[in-house]
Amino acid sequence: MQIDIISVVPDLLTSPFAHSIMKRAADKGLLTVNVINLREHTTYARAQVDDYQFGGGAGMVMMIEPLVNAVEYLQKTTRYDDIIYLTPDGETFNQKMANSLSLKKNLLMICGHYKGIDQRFRDHFITTEISIGDYVLSGGELAAAVLTDAIGRLLPGVLNDESSALTDSFQDNLLAPPVYTRPEVFREMGIPEILKSGNHKKIEEWRYEQAVERTRDRRPDLLKD
Ligand code: ADE
Repeated sequence: MQIDIISVVPDLLTSPFAHSIMKRAADKGLLTVNVINLREHTTYARAQVDDYQFGGGAGMVMMIEPLVNAVEYLQKTTRYDDIIYLTPDGETFNQKMANSLSLKKNLLMICGHYKGIDQRFRDHFITTEISIGDYVLSGGELAAAVLTDAIGRLLPGVLNDESSALTDSFQDNLLAPPVYTRPEVFREMGIPEILKSGNHKKIEEWRYEQAVERTRDRRPDLLKD
């Protein structure tokens, strides 16, 4: 899979993909992330990419022309399944969206800054608008990193234990059950006996019950559907 990300602060997007599972995905050739510096696609002086908004008001708006230049340049070599704009007024990202995006081949993400991007670019080039939650970030980069991570770890072969993504929280609309590791007793705090029983069927049942209980407790909204 290929994920291209257009940004005015490309340095923000180096570290998130250079470690751990995202690095393994890249090393195995399963995920390629390219970060494109929008300033390299502007024809305006001093690499300008934003301007004052028509109608007045505080805050700059990202201009349509550099964005179109960058997208059309990339489209010469890549056919995108989706062109995603990260924005607080988009659809709230969830595991279901991560699953469905992980089935695509090429994604392009656009990171906004300042007051956002010219509406004409949204109307004519963006296919999907996604928010990562009801709060405002200073730019779309961290949101693009969140999406890329959530999508990338779902690609077949990225996680060592193939089943482990399937038992994540949200994968079946349930939160994950509690987990424990060594030592068996720490400061008189033990672990549930069932986990030491060696009875895998009973352990699975216990985990399922715990997941349902935790979900009912913390996120009853997930159990509605
Ligand atoms: N850009 C600024 N805030 C954002 C958010 N919450 N989600 C996605 N992109 C954003």
